[in-house]
Amino acid sequence: MNSPVMQGLDLNTPSYVKHAKLVAWVADMAALCKPDNVVWCDGSQEEYDRLCQELVDAGTFMKLNEAKRPGSFLARTDPSDVARVEDRTYICSEKEEDAGPTNNWMAPAEMRKTLQPLFDGCMKGRTMYVIPFSMGPLGSHISHIGIELSDSAYVVVNQKLMTRMGKAVYDVLGTDGDFVPCMHTVGAPLAEGQKDETTWPCNPETKYIVHYPETREIWSYGSGYGGNALLGKKCFALRIASTMGRDQGWLAEHMLILGVTNPEGKKYHVAAAFPSACGKTNFSMLVPPAGFEGWKVTTIGDDIAWVKPHEDGKLYAINPEAGYFGVAPGTNYHSNPNCMASLNKGVIFTNVALTDDGDVWWEGMEQDNNGVKPDHLIDWRGNDWTPAIAKEKGTKAAHPNARFTVGATNNPALDAQWDDAAGVAIDAFIFGGRRSTTVPLVTQARDWTEGVYMAATMGSETTAAAFGAQGVVRRDPFAMLPFCGYNMADYFQHWLDMEGKLEAKGHTLPPIFCVNWFRKNAEGKFVWPGFGDNMRVLKWMIDRLEGKAEGEQTMFGVAPTYGEINWTGLDFNAEQFATVTNIDKAAWEQELKSHGEHFDKLKDKLPKQLEETKAKLEERVAAL
Ligand code: OXD
Ligand code: MN
Repeated sequence: MNSPVMQGLDLNTPSYVKHAKLVAWVADMAALCKPDNVVWCDGSQEEYDRLCQELVDAGTFMKLNEAKRPGSFLARTDPSDVARVEDRTYICSEKEEDAGPTNNWMAPAEMRKTLQPLFDGCMKGRTMYVIPFSMGPLGSHISHIGIELSDSAYVVVNQKLMTRMGKAVYDVLGTDGDFVPCMHTVGAPLAEGQKDETTWPCNPETKYIVHYPETREIWSYGSGYGGNALLGKKCFALRIASTMGRDQGWLAEHMLILGVTNPEGKKYHVAAAFPSACGKTNFSMLVPPAGFEGWKVTTIGDDIAWVKPHEDGKLYAINPEAGYFGVAPGTNYHSNPNCMASLNKGVIFTNVALTDDGDVWWEGMEQDNNGVKPDHLIDWRGNDWTPAIAKEKGTKAAHPNARFTVGATNNPALDAQWDDAAGVAIDAFIFGGRRSTTVPLVTQARDWTEGVYMAATMGSETTAAAFGAQGVVRRDPFAMLPFCGYNMADYFQHWLDMEGKLEAKGHTLPPIFCVNWFRKNAEGKFVWPGFGDNMRVLKWMIDRLEGKAEGEQTMFGVAPTYGEINWTGLDFNAEQFATVTNIDKAAWEQELKSHGEHFDKLKDKLPKQLEETKAKLEERVAAL
């Protein structure tokens, strides 16, 4: 194919790209953004190594000690560019009601008018990278393709770890395959001859993370960080994909997927939704504790699941991602040994601290060193850090949202089917919030609608680091509050409708469980040990699937009795169990009031079944 030349800029289109619409789009975007040059990424190791070296030369990356952390780098962002920007994230559907009350909305025409001058010339002085990626195994019927155009080499190398990125994507696309166009710029054009004065170019004043669900486009401006910039993740695999799922009859979910195999070799697959920063990566890589010899947990995904019904009557799930972009602080050999092992080599760290011997450190790692912190570090802002400075100024060595990016193949607990184009059949869904009171350790919904209700009313207590006031319950339905690409009430309906659609085909739906690892006692201390001990709860769920545990009816689903949990190796008495499982009448009266306020915000389209379920729960609470 001839390489079009735009305003003197050669597009350098490789001969293996045979998709005329794609080439025309790249040409249009190059004409708009006016980069100095265009580079089509092929996804090769050589390209990755070259770009990492360029990032080192530019000061964006620091190469870590090759003996301690081979093939790994540290990036420090601009202090203003450290997290997803939910208040700058928009769903620009034609009708406001299709975005719903939980999303920021602007009419597409108005947003296009707003973005046009921002994108005009936004890549001056920079390179525009064309990044082809597949969300999900290449060629799987569950997978979808995206092309990201970005002026950030950091984005390219992260996408290489996080997605199936490279030349082979064009074979799947052919001459006219569908792709989601993903436009990204750091929003920091350079004047003629100007050099970057910072190692992390971004736009500290202006950021937009924009989704057009009808035309399935993503436009991201001003941030180089994580979910704002790696557009395959939250923007595509959740916000755009959730609207695709609504239209096509499948589910795009903020869920980990794990495999759990019992000592007899029988394997189950579970998909579990938890709000951000509630330990999804830990649960997906769980190491069964002593007393569970012969049990094995394997990771299919740690953050996102695409779930589609198959002809055989089951729901099949894939992890659309190929790597983990996880929160580093709190990760250690106690909370997640498999994750620590995954981070031994080939990792991009962002905003963690640097040790004096060229390795990395973050809060929580002292637990692997008898509680002892290093004497000296360089913190995530590039400043000296000592325990004394930390004490005096409260400075964290790593930013609380510091991240690691690593390919899934580094994970010693990677499931053999993680890359299976057919996906894995889901045997159970789990929904879990973060609640210090009220919600019990685990219950099973009595039916699909009750399960959808549990998920729709899930809540998470805010941590000061994340959302300001501490301890306030933020309703995060299905853990999708920041990620649902359409009206949340329509999304509830979509979940409810799955039941009828699947049953009409003679299919059985997976049971739904609700969990809460975070109950505290009167002294404000966590009671449930969590981490590997969550295996005890997982085992009870499997017993339920196998008809081996009867449980007992509670106001909020079926709960385990003390005797139904395997306690081998853990000293956890019936009183402690009661502390994490008891249902308090007054707390639940309040809780249901709060569900009512949450539903009020969605009342225009709230499914009747959820109101009816709430009425039933109110009756049960009244009878307590
Ligand atoms: C994430 C998130 O980064 O949920 O996965 O915020
Ligand atoms: Mn997430």
